[in-house]
Amino acid sequence: MFDYEKNKLLWNGLSVETLTHDVTHLLKSAHSYSGPFWLYQESILHDRVRLLEAELPGFHFYYSVKSQSNLTILSKMAEYARVGADVVSGGELFRALKAGFSAERIVFAGVGKSEEEIQAALQAKIRSFHVESISELRDIARLAALQNLVAPVSLRLNPDVEVDTHKHITTGKEENKFGLSDADFSEATKILKSTPSLALVGLQAHIGSQIFAHEPYVETARYLQKKADILRAALGKPVEYLSLGGGFGIDYKRTEGNAVDFPFAALLKEIRSVVDKNMELHFEPGRFISAPLCVLMSRVRHLKTRTGKIIAIIDAAMNDLIRPMLYEAYHPILPVEKRMGSAVYDIVGPVCESTDTFASQRTLTELAEDDWVAIGYAGAYGSAMSSNFNARVLLPAVVLTQEGKLSVIRKPQTFEQMIENEI
Ligand code: LLP
Repeated sequence: MFDYEKNKLLWNGLSVETLTHDVTHLLKSAHSYSGPFWLYQESILHDRVRLLEAELPGFHFYYSVKSQSNLTILSKMAEYARVGADVVSGGELFRALKAGFSAERIVFAGVGKSEEEIQAALQAKIRSFHVESISELRDIARLAALQNLVAPVSLRLNPDVEVDTHKHITTGKEENKFGLSDADFSEATKILKSTPSLALVGLQAHIGSQIFAHEPYVETARYLQKKADILRAALGKPVEYLSLGGGFGIDYKRTEGNAVDFPFAALLKEIRSVVDKNMELHFEPGRFISAPLCVLMSRVRHLKTRTGKIIAIIDAAMNDLIRPMLYEAYHPILPVEKRMGSAVYDIVGPVCESTDTFASQRTLTELAEDDWVAIGYAGAYGSAMSSNFNARVLLPAVVLTQEGKLSVIRKPQTFEQMIENEI
């Protein structure tokens, strides 16, 4: 994914120096803007989707919109017939529809759907609600009945599967807030049996994020199939699909190679044998598709020397990319030009918080003021989690299409836009 040639950074074979030069020129002339920016390569998106389609034949993918919800990016995903959208809010539903996903390719997850969100999804006629509590199931039933509709619902279950990941991104354990417990499942079965405004469509589980082993998915598939059998006996009808959620991991520390770190072949080999032959199988990948699409480009503003290290203050900050601060996440920081020598750096942003630190005590080749660095694998949960903290504006995003053409897919936010809803 990343490489150096004559000490200049290449990203997926392209010169980041040339790209940065062209993008800064474009942003300056079109938007009078000269700060950090998100840089995308559209061809990587196509590579990722095609890779999933090839590695997991017959499976359906509901792209996790929360990981990266830019309209242009979504509209590129929507071109693939086997890709739908997994949304978690009315806002994401709005984005997915706007980007061109047909409603029957949208599923709606989330533990706290509001009545307005349920109404909007009922009106749109989405494929299915992924229901996370008995209270929600009752809400959906009531709102559907009021409109003489039958709501398509799937039960999000909690398989209590252990995965080896950061504590903030595990979701499939019993103590988590997500999904229905075994007791809830029995209650849900009774409700489904006696409520004409509900139609069961599928079963879902999401066991976490940053998963690198296939076994937890196989275990989850086995668990869901068992539950599907129980429901079939109780309701007299098979479910249409099992969704195994998202979670395919990306090794952020590995900058060489193609950023495929999940054993898809092993998964494919084992998973079919634990589910019914004709069962439709879904995954909801977010990070696997969106992380490698984008780098955050930022410039070194100032350097300060401290005992045993140098503090490099760059012009991007935690309000742009919060993953290192929130999850202790590692992102590669790649100088666009590799200078001679190396030093130990703290790479920090300008926000007034000590936690605004992208990397602590990291050895990098020497940096000079005004150097550009690329923060790698920034496409997932990057701009999607940005904020206006410290009244910093949201950064522009620029995409590079396959033909080498650059286009701005999100304009830089202006100060006026930042305050326009304030009174
Ligand atoms: N499906 C469901 C129901 C989810 O909750 C998630 C992510 C996904 C799919 C997509 O998971 P992925 O393939 O991206 O791992 N902000 C954190 C990650 C939070 C993931 C939340 N759920 C991070 O930056 O690491």
